[in-house]
Amino acid sequence: MRSYYCGALSTANIDEAVTLYGWVDRRRDHGGVIFLDMRDRAGIVQVVFDPDTQEHFQAADRVRSEYVLCVKGRVRARTDATINPAMATGQIEVLGKELEILNAAATPPFQLDEHTQVGEDVRLQYRYMDLRRPEMQNRLILRAKITAAVRNFLDAEGFLDIETPILTRATPEGARDYLVPSRTHPGQFFALPQSPQLFKQLLMVSGFDRYYQIAKCFRDEDLRADRQPEFTQIDIETSFLNEDEIMGIAERMVVQLFHKVLAVDLGEFPRMSWSEAMDRFGSDKPDLRIDLELVSIDDLMQQVDFKVFRGPADDPAGRVAALRVPGGAGISRKDIDDYTRFVGIYGARGLAWIKVNDLAAGVDGLQSPILKFMPESVVADMMQRLNAANGDIIFFGADKTSVVNESLGALRLKVAQDQGLVREGWAPLWVVDFPMFEDNGHGGLTPLHHPFTAPSCAPEALVADPAGALSRAYDMVLNGTELGGGSVRIHQRDMQQAVFRILGISDAEADEKFGFLLQALQYGAPPHGGLAFGLDRLVMLMTGSQSIRDVIAFPKTQSAHCALTDAPGEVNEAQLKELNIRLRQARAVPAE
Ligand code: AMO
Ligand code: AMP
Repeated sequence: MRSYYCGALSTANIDEAVTLYGWVDRRRDHGGVIFLDMRDRAGIVQVVFDPDTQEHFQAADRVRSEYVLCVKGRVRARTDATINPAMATGQIEVLGKELEILNAAATPPFQLDEHTQVGEDVRLQYRYMDLRRPEMQNRLILRAKITAAVRNFLDAEGFLDIETPILTRATPEGARDYLVPSRTHPGQFFALPQSPQLFKQLLMVSGFDRYYQIAKCFRDEDLRADRQPEFTQIDIETSFLNEDEIMGIAERMVVQLFHKVLAVDLGEFPRMSWSEAMDRFGSDKPDLRIDLELVSIDDLMQQVDFKVFRGPADDPAGRVAALRVPGGAGISRKDIDDYTRFVGIYGARGLAWIKVNDLAAGVDGLQSPILKFMPESVVADMMQRLNAANGDIIFFGADKTSVVNESLGALRLKVAQDQGLVREGWAPLWVVDFPMFEDNGHGGLTPLHHPFTAPSCAPEALVADPAGALSRAYDMVLNGTELGGGSVRIHQRDMQQAVFRILGISDAEADEKFGFLLQALQYGAPPHGGLAFGLDRLVMLMTGSQSIRDVIAFPKTQSAHCALTDAPGEVNEAQLKELNIRLRQARAVPAE
């Protein structure tokens, strides 16, 4: 049996005889003495073999990187000259006495400390090797600490961990479903859950009162750094609590988690309405570590002839907004051109700008391609509203409100990053008072969250003005990432039916798809609500990782492919036949 993890040894163990198990991180031959850096999940320790122990010295001579060893030896202090301050165990080493090679290893596909030189595809193909890297080990260890802390918190608060099915019916969360063909019901399909939403609501109808689950969810959507086709939620539902009480529990959970795992005090989370977030930051998940804000100048632009600005200023569905970047006057023309292309991704048709060189000199102290279109008085009013100062650059967006918000919202993040304007630390907040619905682009409405979210108004008011109705939903945002979201739910059948009708779902279709829910709402459904956190995103932020792929043991690639097992894969004719499936086109290998 091991006496200690390699990385756990310290000066406290000096003179102890120890048994270690681990992998060879590095082997060095220093003229008659062999140094092995031995690694396990706790870290690395240096083991020294000298020729006094002939047989074992020879074995040490044979080992190569990633061989698996059992080493017995004695811990000793390093001499002052050989202490390695860069190593956690750098004060000591182990004088090896016995060495058993438990398994050899082929030459690794990449050196662990040179992983950045291979592409992520290679790392994912040999994920079991990639996961040996201390950085990856630490991330997954922290992930386990986080789920343990979450479970402890929820358990102490009286929440019950209840599992819900994976083979189920579609749950609408706005993404495409992953489907599983049924053998026993030819021609029919299960859908993998996009979330446990409906089952957790049904558990409330059953009286479980406080439910949680660390639940796998499946969504077939376009992938990004913070999205995976299968991901994990910390899923929570409660009965008899209002939104303030639910947000209170969730906030305490996250505050405790950060305190326990990172020794960070997040403080009390501010709340901001959705419309304020959109107006000031162009985003429903504002990164409050950045002070830059969007400022509306529609009223001022109604006084100019410049059509590009005047049009959206006069249009109730349009917006003209400015983004002032202190100290940004040094941004080059080339960078402005790059930013112009960048906002183009979000549909912006241009990016006007003004550099403030010398405010006291009036318009002569400003530099811009658009000044010629504006009366001096308007420019002066604008400078005042924006609190402009020498050395600033001001960017402008003029278009449909959604285009301006998206493009300037994204530009705000990018410029802040480029200019070093993102504060260190943590900036959590709640975003509340979301609209119930948004335009679906085809003349109809689509839910901003999901169709089970309760409106904050009565059914009559909802039906009278659905587009203007607000919901009882809330999102928790941390450093510009949506960590979690939820709502108080509809618990009355009439209201649920009204929402389905507004969404263009006929009573017959609602019965077909959600009949079981509508029925359950008739049998004594308590008022209830909850939320779900994206566990992967939470761990990503808490470990300072750039992508959720870095905190998932075996993630999918950007094209939703498992490079390790090469899934998805083909199945044989017999399996297809059993499932009553005939492929419409010849099998083709999709491009990675
Ligand atoms: P929602 O769809 O907002 O709500 O999801 C909740 C949280 O899950 C995370 N998340 C994802 N993480 C990684 N990859 C994805 N593809 C992905 N999609 C979502 C986000 C998000 O905030 N049933 C509701 C919750 C509720 O109302 O209780 C739901 O699923 O961090
Ligand atoms: P133009 O008169 O088209 O050359 O535009 C003058 C300036 O306004 C240029 O800097 C353009 O990038 C910018 N511009 C054009 N359209 C928009 C728009 N919709 N929003 C913001 N700036 C724009």
